[in-house]
Amino acid sequence: VSADRRYHANLCNVIPKDLYIEMGSDIEVLCQTSCASGKIFWTLNSRPIDESLSNVINSSLTVLSLRTFTHHNATLQCHSANTQQILGGTTIRTYSKTNIADFTFLLCIFPHVDVVPHLFTCKWEHQMNSSLKIHYTVLYASLLRPSYTEICSSYVTTCTSKDIDLSDKVHFFGNASVIVRAKATAWEAYSNPYEFDHYDILQMIRPEVTVTAFPDHLLVEWTRSPSTRTCHCQVKYGKVKTYTVWEYTIQSVESCTHYNILVRCALDKAPWSDWSRETTVLTKLNKSDVKLHLWRKVAEPKKNAIRNVHIMWTVRKPLITPYKNYMTGANSTGSLCYSSPCDIDVNQDAHRINLTVFHGEILLTEDSVYVPATVESLLKVTDLQTSNLKGVILVSWKAPLQPVSGYMIDWTHNGNQYYWKESKYTNTRLLDLLDKKPYNITVTPLFGDKTGHGTQALQICSRVGNPGNVTIISVEAKDKSAILSWSTRSQEECSGAVINYTVFYGTQKGPTLNVTVDYTKQDLCLKDLDPDTQYSVYVKATALTGTSKSSERLFKTKRYGKWLVNAPHGYKKLQWKKFREKPVPNPGHSSVALWSSPSYQKVESRSNITPMLNWLRE
Ligand SMILES: *[C@@H]1O[C@H](CO)[C@@H](O)[C@H](O)[C@H]1NC(C)=O
Ligand SMILES: *[C@@H]1O[C@H](CO)[C@@H](O)[C@H](O)[C@H]1NC(C)=O
Ligand SMILES: *[C@@H]1O[C@H](CO)[C@@H](O)[C@H](O)[C@H]1NC(C)=O
Ligand SMILES: *[C@@H]1O[C@H](CO)[C@@H](O)[C@H](O)[C@H]1NC(C)=O
Ligand SMILES: *[C@@H]1O[C@H](CO)[C@@H](O)[C@H](O)[C@H]1NC(C)=O
Ligand SMILES: *[C@@H]1O[C@H](CO)[C@@H](O)[C@H](O)[C@H]1NC(C)=O
Ligand SMILES: *[C@@H]1O[C@H](CO)[C@@H](O)[C@H](O)[C@H]1NC(C)=O
Repeated sequence: VSADRRYHANLCNVIPKDLYIEMGSDIEVLCQTSCASGKIFWTLNSRPIDESLSNVINSSLTVLSLRTFTHHNATLQCHSANTQQILGGTTIRTYSKTNIADFTFLLCIFPHVDVVPHLFTCKWEHQMNSSLKIHYTVLYASLLRPSYTEICSSYVTTCTSKDIDLSDKVHFFGNASVIVRAKATAWEAYSNPYEFDHYDILQMIRPEVTVTAFPDHLLVEWTRSPSTRTCHCQVKYGKVKTYTVWEYTIQSVESCTHYNILVRCALDKAPWSDWSRETTVLTKLNKSDVKLHLWRKVAEPKKNAIRNVHIMWTVRKPLITPYKNYMTGANSTGSLCYSSPCDIDVNQDAHRINLTVFHGEILLTEDSVYVPATVESLLKVTDLQTSNLKGVILVSWKAPLQPVSGYMIDWTHNGNQYYWKESKYTNTRLLDLLDKKPYNITVTPLFGDKTGHGTQALQICSRVGNPGNVTIISVEAKDKSAILSWSTRSQEECSGAVINYTVFYGTQKGPTLNVTVDYTKQDLCLKDLDPDTQYSVYVKATALTGTSKSSERLFKTKRYGKWLVNAPHGYKKLQWKKFREKPVPNPGHSSVALWSSPSYQKVESRSNITPMLNWLRE
């Protein structure tokens, strides 16, 4: 005891040791002075501290109070004033909250937990201005482990621990708390404690989903947590939108549509589980989504009053359907056909043609179309007008006096393939037509489920093209004229009507001359040509919608006079007149006597005598 007392009596020390404080905070440090007598003084980093900060309690204890401490790293010492002996010392380091560390906890979870959680993950954010390498450590405390212990460490801002044994549910009782410590070479910082209820951070395992499709709803089922705690779940589905529902049944789905379904769950306040694997289902077909497009053409009655009815239909169904094979069939009074188009005969009475679509034994949909009796006095549309514009045919008509429910317009370019559509109005536009084809268009008024008689428009072309090809048939060349004839041949039904023809002709040296005649003429006499000269000629046909040209034709005019012998009668007279204007050759100039002369003389005399002979012949 005496030894102890002596020890204590002589004790000198500075407490606390190794202070680590926030920069700018206040501290108090004690100097135990039992071993010395007299006054003491303090030094901070070897420099004396103002005496007023030191407060002597009694002979064995002095307290130093430092306000707003700002040194980074300091050594504080207590000295005896008498002996200059150091009685004790401590170090003080500071950290700055604003400069070194700013923590935000994002979450701490027990991820993918179902029955026994065994992993514990924390994520945090740490605002740092420097790029220092920081070593993080997570410290954990709970009711059963009241002091903070290290559970994991990492160099990134997330950390997972396998060390918390939670197999015993007792651990789940009460709150837990974590702190993150950040350590760099020069400093160390702690986050604020993050406190949580264990159940609030239990993340459920992602659910396994099964979906059953019905025509108008989907039944979504998934594995449930064995936990007795209340849990809630989200079901995500839809083609574009995301709905959040709390039900197992997705109502009012579209038929024949792919749905992608995802489910996730969470306990009470805990974070969501991961989304389940995506489950894709195709909803069943709703019969009302199968649409029929049905029409018929009724021919004029034959002698026995039997009428041919051309029936045609298309089935419009959703793009994707769970049913592959449809069976369609139309029937009326015993006649039955299975594919469109088909023809049946009906008598003069009114008839109804039924169309049904079956999938196996299931009737998917049906429709019917009316064929009025031959004598039925249903009104027609009147004043049916058509016009074409850039490949589109515009059709308009006047409504009958009876109220109608609409009109059916049908059109064809070949009598085999028909197109048809309904209109509520007294005009329509026919699009997607074949270019330059003549169309027969019929408009039939509809009266509820009955139909009236059709009215056919004059045939009209979807577009009128150039005039038909022009071909030069013949050129009969004389010496100073030529008779040209040509024809137009149209390969296309919708070629433009010729308004006039222009004949272009000329010699190689030019100029090119032209003559225009109206469409009624297909021949022309080209006059004032030079004899014995090659000409080229072609014919251009002009229509309102364009022009077409013949190919070029070459011909040569005859030498002057040579044609005369064989000339047709009418042209001889013309030539006669011209001849008469020339002086009558004088027979006296003829050298008949020289007939036996050498050949050059013969030639000369023959040429002299020819005009005379010709004149005589005439
Ligand atoms: C000095 O004061 C301290 C604190 O009040 C006390 O514990 C101690 O016994 C005192 N010492 C003497 C010698 O009075
Ligand atoms: C447990 O933690 C939660 C969330 O931090 C808190 O609201 C609650 O008061 C804590 N409960 C107890 C008993 O400390
Ligand atoms: C089919 O669709 C129609 C119209 O969209 C709807 O009124 C009807 O309830 C649906 N039927 C079924 C069985 O889904
Ligand atoms: C013809 O159609 C009617 C009405 O849909 C139907 O009752 C009948 O069974 C059909 N007849 C045949 C031979 O398919
Ligand atoms: C178009 O109608 C006319 C007049 O009724 C008819 O002569 C012609 O054969 C029809 N053409 C087609 C392709 O239906
Ligand atoms: C030929 O017809 C076209 C088209 O109508 C017209 O523009 C042109 O003037 C006519 N030519 C003559 C020479 O009449
Ligand atoms: C036809 O000839 C006349 C002159 O005779 C000329 O003015 C005109 O341009 C010619 N027409 C064509 C289409 O070449």
